[in-house]
Amino acid sequence: MTTVALEPNPLREGLEQERVPDASCLVIFGASGDLTHRKLLPALYSLAHDGLLPAGQTIIGFARPDYGDEAFRADIRKACNEFARTKPVDDAVWENFAKGLFYVQGDFTEPEAYNRLNQKLTECDRTRGTGGRRIYYLAVPPNFFPVIAELLGAEGMVTDPERGGPYTRVIIEKPFGHDLATARELNRVAVTTFRERQVFRIDHYLGKETVQNLLVLRFANGIFEPFWNRQYIDHVQLTVAESIGVEKRGPYFESAGIARDIIQNHMMQLLSLVAMEPPVAFEADAVRDEKVKVVRALRDFPAGHESSSAVRGQYTAGSVLGEAVPGYRQEERVSPTSRVETYAAMKVFVDNWRWADVPFYLRAGKRLPKRVTDISIHFRPAPYPLFKKVAGVRTQPNVLAIRIQPDEGIALKFDSKVPGPTVRTAPVTMEFRYATSFGAEPPEAYERLLLETMLGDSTLFARRDEVETAWAWLDPLLHVWEESPEPPDPYPAGTWGPPSADAMIERDGRRWRRP
Ligand code: BG6
Repeated sequence: MTTVALEPNPLREGLEQERVPDASCLVIFGASGDLTHRKLLPALYSLAHDGLLPAGQTIIGFARPDYGDEAFRADIRKACNEFARTKPVDDAVWENFAKGLFYVQGDFTEPEAYNRLNQKLTECDRTRGTGGRRIYYLAVPPNFFPVIAELLGAEGMVTDPERGGPYTRVIIEKPFGHDLATARELNRVAVTTFRERQVFRIDHYLGKETVQNLLVLRFANGIFEPFWNRQYIDHVQLTVAESIGVEKRGPYFESAGIARDIIQNHMMQLLSLVAMEPPVAFEADAVRDEKVKVVRALRDFPAGHESSSAVRGQYTAGSVLGEAVPGYRQEERVSPTSRVETYAAMKVFVDNWRWADVPFYLRAGKRLPKRVTDISIHFRPAPYPLFKKVAGVRTQPNVLAIRIQPDEGIALKFDSKVPGPTVRTAPVTMEFRYATSFGAEPPEAYERLLLETMLGDSTLFARRDEVETAWAWLDPLLHVWEESPEPPDPYPAGTWGPPSADAMIERDGRRWRRP
C-alpha cells in the first residue's frame, strides 16, 4: 500500500492524505447480475471519479452470457449513469476507467473457463501492472461458492499469504449460510482454499458512514461513554424499517424471512457496535474481538416462552406511501399459504457487566410506513422528580437518537423550560445532520468496502466467529418458529407491524419510538 498526497479536493478538505491501494485485478463472478450493475461497478466508477483507485486497477467481469469487452463496457456505462453516486458519467473519467474493464465469458463450474480467466489475469499483470494481486468477488448465490473455491484452488489461482508474494483475497456476499450448520459448512469450504484473513464477508451495513460513526461517537468523544451503561440507560431500540416489499426476490425471501435477511447480520452488526466494549486498537481483530463478545453474551430466548420476547408478522394488502400494495402471500413467486415472516420484533439482553438487565428492543420489517434505520438510546429518568409537584409539568426521559438512514444524523432530546412566567417544560432536540455539517453526500457503502478490500483491511467485514455466533444464538428461535402451528401475526402493509409487537414492549411499560 502506498500513501500519497492527493490533488486538492474540496470534498476532502482537511484530509491531507488518503490511503491508495496498489493496483490489482478484481474479478467479479456473476458480472451479469443485478448486484454488479446496481452496486459494484457504480461504486468502483465513483471511486475512480474521486481519484481513489490506483492507476492500473483492473476489473474483470466473469459470467456466462456471451459478451465481449466492448458490449460489457457499454452496459456498465449505462448502469453507472443510472446508479453511481457520482452520476452522470464524466467522459474523461470513464475513458480511463473503461481501459481497465474487461469481460471473460465462462461457466463457474468449468475448469476450462478458469484457464481463460487465468490467461487474462496474467496478461493484465503484464499490461496493467497488477503484479499478481487478485481479488475475487463472488456476486453469486452461495451454492456456487464451494465449486468456485475448489476450481480457483485447483487451477493454482490462489496464493498463500503465509508464503509471501502477491495477495489473493475473496469477497463473499450474504447470506452466510441458512443456519449454524450451513454457515459452518460454508466457512469450512472457505478455509480449504483460503485462510481466514483472505476472506472478506460483506455486510454492507458496515460500509455505511453512519454505522462507522457509531465507533467515533462512542470512542472519540469523552462525554458519551461514562453514561453508556446500565446505570444511566433504561433501554435501547433498534429499528430497520423498509417501505418496500420483497420485490422480485420472492423465492429468496421464502427461504429466508426477515430474521435471516436482516436480523442475523445487519442488526447484529448494529447491536454489536452499540454494545461493545472499547477495543484496544482500531484494528480489524481488536474491533471484531469486542463485537463478537457482545453476540456471545446474548441471552437465549426463554425456552417454551419465546413469544414473550420475540414476535413475527407478515404483511397483508394495504397502502404504503399512498400506493395500494398486495399482501406478501400475493407477491410474485410466493406461496399463497406462506408462513414466512416479513416482520420481527425481539427483546434481547446482553448478559454482561455493562448491560445486565437492560433490554434491547429490535425490530425489522418490510412494507412498514417508511424506510428508516434508527438506533435510540433511552436514558433513565432524572433520579429525583423535582418538578413533579408543579402543575402541568411532565418531564420525559432523555433520548439519543442515531439516524443511520436516510437524513443521517444524531439528535439528543431533552426537556427545556417553555419561556414564560410559569414553569412549564417541553421536549426539545439538539441536532447534528451530516448533510448540513459536511455538505457532501457520503460515499456508498460498497465504495468503502471495495476500497478496504483492496487495502487489505478487514475491520469492516464480518469474521467467521461473528457469523457463527450470531447463528448459534438465533437458530433455536428460528426452529421454534418453523415448527409452530401458528402463522405469523398479520399486519396491513403501511403500518408499523402487528399489535403483538406493541404489546411486547408495552408489557414492560415502554413504547416503540416513532422514528
Ligand atoms: C439486504 C437485504 O441485505 O439489505 C434486503 O437482503 C434489504 O432485503 C437491504 O432490502 C436493505 O439495505 P439498505 O441499505 O437499503 O438498508
